[in-house]
Amino acid sequence: MEFSMAPMEGITNHLYRNAFGECYSGIRRYYSPFVAVFEGARMKKRDLKDVLPENNRLPVIPQLLTNNSDDCIKACKKLEELGFTEVNLNLGCPSPTVTSKGKGAAMLRDLDDLRSFLSAVYGAFENTSLKISVKSRIGITDPGEFEGILAVMADFPLKEWIIHPRVLQEGYSGKPHTEIFCKNNLSKCKFPVAYNGNIYQLSDYVKAREVMDFSGNCVNHVMLGRGLLIRPYLAENLAKWDPENSKMQDSQSKLSQSDEKMRLRSFYERLTASYQEEFSGENAVLSHLKELAAFWMQGFTNGTEYIKEMRKAKRLPELDSVFKRLLVNEEVIIDDGNLEII
Ligand SMILES: Cc1cc2nc3c(=O)[nH]c(=O)nc-3n(C[C@H](O)[C@H](O)[C@H](O)COP(=O)(O)O)c2cc1C
Repeated sequence: MEFSMAPMEGITNHLYRNAFGECYSGIRRYYSPFVAVFEGARMKKRDLKDVLPENNRLPVIPQLLTNNSDDCIKACKKLEELGFTEVNLNLGCPSPTVTSKGKGAAMLRDLDDLRSFLSAVYGAFENTSLKISVKSRIGITDPGEFEGILAVMADFPLKEWIIHPRVLQEGYSGKPHTEIFCKNNLSKCKFPVAYNGNIYQLSDYVKAREVMDFSGNCVNHVMLGRGLLIRPYLAENLAKWDPENSKMQDSQSKLSQSDEKMRLRSFYERLTASYQEEFSGENAVLSHLKELAAFWMQGFTNGTEYIKEMRKAKRLPELDSVFKRLLVNEEVIIDDGNLEII
């Protein structure tokens, strides 16, 4: 199974991705947080900088956020000129600032409009080397809406359809509707389909495999989001799972507490250095690190107790001292599921 890094606006930028690639492995592709496309296909300099090949040491697929097909086509052409061979379209963002403008997940509301948009965009790149993939939700209020969305998608030559099986109204809460992956109806798709949602640890992945077909006939790849933020070693660990024998492939390769603590420390130091280079002022560096550390702490015993204290830090050395104490006093929770890992 292949794993990719989910786009996470404000977090998985090129600084994060590059530092991640120096400390961890197991990720085949990295999707950029959305690049908003404005009238006339304008894109922010900062967003373009984030995806430009010269700033990325890892394979990045830029993601675009727009509901205007003309702007989308122009933006795709710009990215094609920059050397990209794939662009991903965001049809899943649930943020009210995005959906109030009819973008992101709101594009799933009117299926005729969706069809027209996709028809124009795919039509423009029919005979070019640029491939276009889609990341979407399964509806606005009711998972039953998925049938209609599927019927639209199935008519276009998607490079891949990454499905986060929640409706817009659910935000990121509740359980993903994994049942939509079990129905034979996904076989209507003549393109690969990927799963994304709530894979935080090995036991989640194993359970997901029990209810979805991860053989490659149905789910082609798994995109990891918050789970990978909490456990940056997650993809490496999942890759060791042997589904045939329901156990880890190599008992010698069991993760060690001290190795994982050292890796996380090194990741933190690399991120601090690159944030200091990129952002002006200690506050900006601190707020980015705090956001990430709040995720990491969830992967440690008693981790949440450190989050409050860490949030109070006003200077980098204060944050550093909380982080050091966490690494010394607590244990990495590799998996808190009831899975017997051999
Ligand atoms: C803070 C944050 C930022 C996100 N930014 C984006 C984004 O820019 N583009 C996108 O398609 N999804 C975005 N997402 C959604 C994630 O890519 C992913 O679909 C979601 O977190 C569910 O996967 P998970 O359960 O593995 O985290 C974001 C999610 C979060 C929590």
